[in-house]
Amino acid sequence: MSIDDSFRSVRFNQDKIVLLDQTRLPEEIKYVDLYTVEDVFWSIRNMLVRGAPAIGIAAAYGLYLGVLDASKKRASTALNDSVEEYTRYLMSARPTAVNLEWALRRMKQRWDHEKGLSVEHKLTALQDEARAIDLEDEAANRIIGEHLAALIKEGMGVLTHCNAGALATSRYGTALSGFYIAKERGVDFKVFADETRPVLQGARLTAWELQQAGIDVTLICDNMAATVMSQGKIQAVMVGADRIAANGDTANKIGTYSVAVLAHHFGIPFYVAAPTSTVDLGIDHGQQIPIEERAAEEITKFNGRMVAPNDITVYNPAFDVTPHELITAIVTEKGVFSPPMDLRSALS
Ligand code: MRU
Repeated sequence: MSIDDSFRSVRFNQDKIVLLDQTRLPEEIKYVDLYTVEDVFWSIRNMLVRGAPAIGIAAAYGLYLGVLDASKKRASTALNDSVEEYTRYLMSARPTAVNLEWALRRMKQRWDHEKGLSVEHKLTALQDEARAIDLEDEAANRIIGEHLAALIKEGMGVLTHCNAGALATSRYGTALSGFYIAKERGVDFKVFADETRPVLQGARLTAWELQQAGIDVTLICDNMAATVMSQGKIQAVMVGADRIAANGDTANKIGTYSVAVLAHHFGIPFYVAAPTSTVDLGIDHGQQIPIEERAAEEITKFNGRMVAPNDITVYNPAFDVTPHELITAIVTEKGVFSPPMDLRSALS
């Protein structure tokens, strides 16, 4: 079985978003209906929807829902303020993945572009734009997958970290997209999935998603990566990204940097896969990327039970930045970029 459309994490259905609640996986396949911009903000912040492209897509539809609702309550002249307000509100849900900001800016630009036309027309344009963002992500991922699949050879072991799969995007995923295509082509390879403490996206989502698709996947704890690499089981690392600076420095899930250092130590190629909506040409290097810090409970509790002393001081950055020197190539739908990376001239 290959990845099909049955686990699409964000669907739009007339007046609501239907989300696959990723906090419940793999125990339960539960869908939730979102009707308001507040529902969407809450779902992004609490990670019912997560993964850089997926939060951008959810926010785009969320902005449409917010403005649709405002159009029933406010004078048409006040709707520009609603667009402004909801754009800023949704952008503040999570800081690191630039796709959120990118998708919302694009929605606002579309609204501004339709200036002077009827409210109905502008609402249709907003809905069309959100759908375009959704569909373009799917198309980009398919191209990224073709590039990655070409790197996956018979008998290879590939390590991945966090979840950069179908669940994190409109379809196929970024880092995982090559696995689906290689599988379709009958290539025999193995995936090793880091569990990805503290939120366990690797264990709960990647291991589940790949298993559903019949891909040979082995789950390991994060602290086992050096061992499996030293045993010769890993020939490549493929990960996703939340924000890539113009020089190629890449923010991704916490722990990615450690994997990159290990890959460098063992001489294993380290690939970052992302659509160009994840590239932030407005920043020169990774130190300018805002890093989200999340609640202490993600670390102090496990399955609802305290696993650390009460009131312990906790530091919980949700992402880290892998310096471009450790990246073999950045794989996008617009090409594969290897060092020296100057994404600003390559993409603008
Ligand atoms: O905190 P999350 O689960 O939203 O973090 C997700 C990641 O770090 C992914 O690797 C990244 O967004 C790429 S998803 C295609």
